[in-house]
Amino acid sequence: MTLNSVACIDDLRRLAHRRVPSDFMGYYESGSYSQSTLAANLRDLAEIKIRQRVLAGAANRTQNQSFLGAKRPHPFALAPIGLSGMAYRDGEIAAARAAEKAGIPYTLSTLSICSIEDVAEAVTQPFWFQLYFMRDRGFVADLIARARKANCSALVLTVDLQVLGQRHSDVRSGLTVPPRIHPKTIGRIALKPAWIANVLMGKRKTFGNVAGRIPGTENLLSYMDWISSQFDQALSWDDVAWIRDRWPGKLIIKGIMDVEDARLAAKTGATAIVVSNHGGRQLDGAASSISMLPRIADAVGSDVEILFDGGIRTGQDVFRALALGARACLLGRAYLYGLCAAGEAGVSKAIELISNELDVTMALSGVRTLEQISRDCLET
Ligand code: GLV
Repeated sequence: MTLNSVACIDDLRRLAHRRVPSDFMGYYESGSYSQSTLAANLRDLAEIKIRQRVLAGAANRTQNQSFLGAKRPHPFALAPIGLSGMAYRDGEIAAARAAEKAGIPYTLSTLSICSIEDVAEAVTQPFWFQLYFMRDRGFVADLIARARKANCSALVLTVDLQVLGQRHSDVRSGLTVPPRIHPKTIGRIALKPAWIANVLMGKRKTFGNVAGRIPGTENLLSYMDWISSQFDQALSWDDVAWIRDRWPGKLIIKGIMDVEDARLAAKTGATAIVVSNHGGRQLDGAASSISMLPRIADAVGSDVEILFDGGIRTGQDVFRALALGARACLLGRAYLYGLCAAGEAGVSKAIELISNELDVTMALSGVRTLEQISRDCLET
């Protein structure tokens, strides 16, 4: 299979597995512990039935949607994904460029390989920056200042990773960044010569925003040890106010799965929330994010914009999330598979697949605009 013959995101996933070593695919794909929440995200979306409507005059469709203060040609953005630069050389730049070409926002993760400045230099449109709250407040303030200087148009504050939900695959593989070649990993890495030439021989292989700035990150023991030593478990809503003081721009709070938390988030003056369980990577046993979406949208949808992630692999899934109250979705693994498979061209392919599927879904359910997508478009 080549990129030209790819028909769906699952095809990109197959190509991704061919190209990228299993240690990194394990990191990208895994959910935490038993992966029950990861499975629920996918299952619950697939179970939502869309109403088929015919002879509804659904020609001249548009996917235009305004979110976070800008009119966009599609109702989705690219989610923050740590270590994207391990999927493909300068992966964050590749994904940001594909997003820019499609006219949708790209979100750069704190745990990216390319730094904020690397990405800012490579694109012309502002991107969003995702922030993790680390113990070193000086460093957090510095990250925010760097995002402002890079002209980032929104800050995405992730609030559901104060401790790391264990992904068994990372324990078993002993994942480190930069990747260490040792007897345990060499066999798996040697199977992927194209990745070796592209990523391992590339110049950027460590956490671009962090390395050299926080002591101890030059010599990472393991990804999980590093997270638990740096992330702030005492984080509270007061800290969001601390961020608000330093970031007057658009603020998105990501990782809301509870109506009460959604109300608290709305009170902080956030522009948007992302209904998200971190792609099933954090609280194993939590509900699927799609099952929480309608309740949260009902409770706070008139106070904050509602974004959604968790399990989106098709345009039909985007349609389902919009019908249940999301203004836009974040694509995570769906675009990452494209990045693993073929860099920027692969991400563009993922965006094209999802938008084509959304378009056909709109036609077959009898809607022309995203405003027409409502709960009424679903079978109850
Ligand atoms: C980081 O965001 C992770 O899910 O590992």
